[in-house]
Amino acid sequence: MDFLTQSTHVHITTWVIALVLFLIAVRKPSTSVHMGLRLFYVLILITGFALFTTFDSLNQALYGIKMLLGIVTIGLMEMTLVRKKKGKKNGGVLAGAFIVLVLTVILGFALPGIA
Ligand code: HEM
Repeated sequence: MDFLTQSTHVHITTWVIALVLFLIAVRKPSTSVHMGLRLFYVLILITGFALFTTFDSLNQALYGIKMLLGIVTIGLMEMTLVRKKKGKKNGGVLAGAFIVLVLTVILGFALPGIA
C-alpha cells in the first residue's frame, strides 16, 4: 500500500471529491450523491490513517489533532445533510463544518508532509 504513504495526493483527492459532493448535496439534496459522499468519507479515513502511520515523533500531538479535526469535519458534514433531510435547522452545523474544514486544511498543510 505504498501509494497511500508516498505522497499526500490520494488523500487530497479523496477530500476534494468529498467536498464537491457535499456542496452538491447541500444545494440540492439527493440520496445517491449522499451515498457517494459516504463512500468518500471511508476513503478519506483509510488514506488519512495510512498517512497517520508515517507521523514523525516531533509532531505526534499535531498529527493526533489533525486526525481529530478530519474526523470532526466528516461528522459535521454528515450532520448537516441529515438535519437538512429531516427539515431541521442546519445553519449552525454547516458553519461549524466549514470552520473545522478550514482548520483541518491549514493544519494538514502546516504539518511537515512526506519527506
Ligand atoms: C474532510 C476531512 C479532511 C481534510 C479536508 C483533510 C485535509 C488534509 C490536508 C490539506 C493535508 C495536507 C496534505 C499535504 O501536506 O500535502 C492532509 C494531510 C494529512 N491528513 Fe488529512 N484531511 C481530512 C481528514 C483526515 C483524517 C480523517 C485523517 C486521519 C484519520 C487525516 C490524516 C492526515 C494525515 C496524517 C496527513 C499527513 C500530514 C503530513 O504529514 O503533512 N486527515 N489532510
